[in-house]
Amino acid sequence: MFAEKLTGIREALTFDDVLLVPMRSPVDPVEIDVSSSVSRHIKVKTPIVSSPMDTVTEAEMAIAMARNGGIGIIHRNLTANAQSQMVSKVKREESIKIRNVHTVEPETPISDARAIMRTKNIAGLPVISNDKLVGIVTRRDIEFVGEGKRTVSEIMVKDVIYANDEIDIEDAKQILYKNRIEKLPLVDSNGRVVGLITAKDITTRKNFPNASRDEEGQLLVGAAVGPFDVDRAVTLEKAGADLIVIDTAHAHNEKVMQAIRQIRKAVSVDIVGGNIATKEAAEDLISLDLDGIRVGIGPGSICTTRIIAGIGVPQITAISDVAEVAVQHKVPVIADGGIRFSGDIVKAIAAGADSVMLGSLLAGTDESPGTEMIMNGRKYKAYRGMGSMGVMRTGISDRYGKMSSSKFVAEGVEGAVPYRGKVEEVIFQLVGGVKSGMGYTGAKNIDVLRKNSRFIKITANGLRESHPHDVRIVSEPPNYQMYQVS
Ligand code: XMP
Repeated sequence: MFAEKLTGIREALTFDDVLLVPMRSPVDPVEIDVSSSVSRHIKVKTPIVSSPMDTVTEAEMAIAMARNGGIGIIHRNLTANAQSQMVSKVKREESIKIRNVHTVEPETPISDARAIMRTKNIAGLPVISNDKLVGIVTRRDIEFVGEGKRTVSEIMVKDVIYANDEIDIEDAKQILYKNRIEKLPLVDSNGRVVGLITAKDITTRKNFPNASRDEEGQLLVGAAVGPFDVDRAVTLEKAGADLIVIDTAHAHNEKVMQAIRQIRKAVSVDIVGGNIATKEAAEDLISLDLDGIRVGIGPGSICTTRIIAGIGVPQITAISDVAEVAVQHKVPVIADGGIRFSGDIVKAIAAGADSVMLGSLLAGTDESPGTEMIMNGRKYKAYRGMGSMGVMRTGISDRYGKMSSSKFVAEGVEGAVPYRGKVEEVIFQLVGGVKSGMGYTGAKNIDVLRKNSRFIKITANGLRESHPHDVRIVSEPPNYQMYQVS
């Protein structure tokens, strides 16, 4: 009985065990399209998702991820209220037409208008009287206000230029440009202000042509919830989250699956469930009507699950097993954890993933919330596992099984990663590497990469040969240096 357990057991592979075989290629890397899906309805131009970890994704990271074509998942090691505020911050960051416009009345004291502008960080307020637009007051009017002026009516611009709410963005651009104005209030047929278009938003849109946006032009954002936290999921959906990620270390647990059913009933936005690593788990999770599956048990850079619990599946095998099932149900797969180089992203997608989730590669960027530190003259940022003692002691402990009310068995470490500059630069390098890999395999898009690429298994010697060897490196290109940890 026991001997059988080890007879003919399956070998499982991870990133460093395989390479993709170069193939005859009709494609030029500059023409390659890396757009893909994160979940059934969340389409992205960059197949990269930032992990819901408290040293990786808060509002700033989510904004940067969406602007660069991916999506960020706000972590859950904070109150539902604070997490929702981060979601709203991302949603309010950009839009084609701003709704819920802040307004003032002619009688509003200038000091009050100034306070609104400061606290809400806005540069112009339409002035409303009896539900009608009667003027506009901008930060400039308020900054240089003369002595003795007290109310908005004394300083506002009265012949305000406005447009009908139906106006399209191109026409709005012309009006802004021709009149040299920054803000264009939008009114409905009764003359009521129902929106605002700003020159700043139009410029930002131009600067980020690949950004992930909803139909209103707002950036896409996801948020994580614990498997038993239905209320949080509902609150986050209300705050505008486009995607809910049910965040647990073992989603193939009967109680967790029962709880996922409740969340599915309570929210209508896309839900990603995970983590899992087997075909059976994929079948069971997909039967819960999820819109995406997150794969990875123990491959993460800060994970100790495999060491502490003795379980897991090497990541390339886990991805391909889950994807085998998911593809039949048209449910996208997110490969989560263990990605150290852009080449690993190419391998993850070739093994069946639709997108990848990153922790350590993004934790060292300007936009991550981790604290900065200097070690041996080099800049680092803090990065820790969500199952580390630090997180469990101060916050969430339901991601991993809790053994008693006061003691924890950690499944993650706390550490630091090298400072890596802006998210934009990291994503640029990662996507550049992915396109290069797709060029070698003759894949003009992600679909072709998933279907047509072929793996070859390598030995330890092959791996040694793959990295620079037998040279003293005097100049590392930034995209190789970016991956070095010490
Ligand atoms: P990378 O390799 O990108 O991995 O840093 C990030 C992923 O690791 C998972 N994660 C953990 N896994 N213990 C674990 O076993 C932990 O404490 C832990 N914290 C995060 C998570 O899936 C994340 O996206």
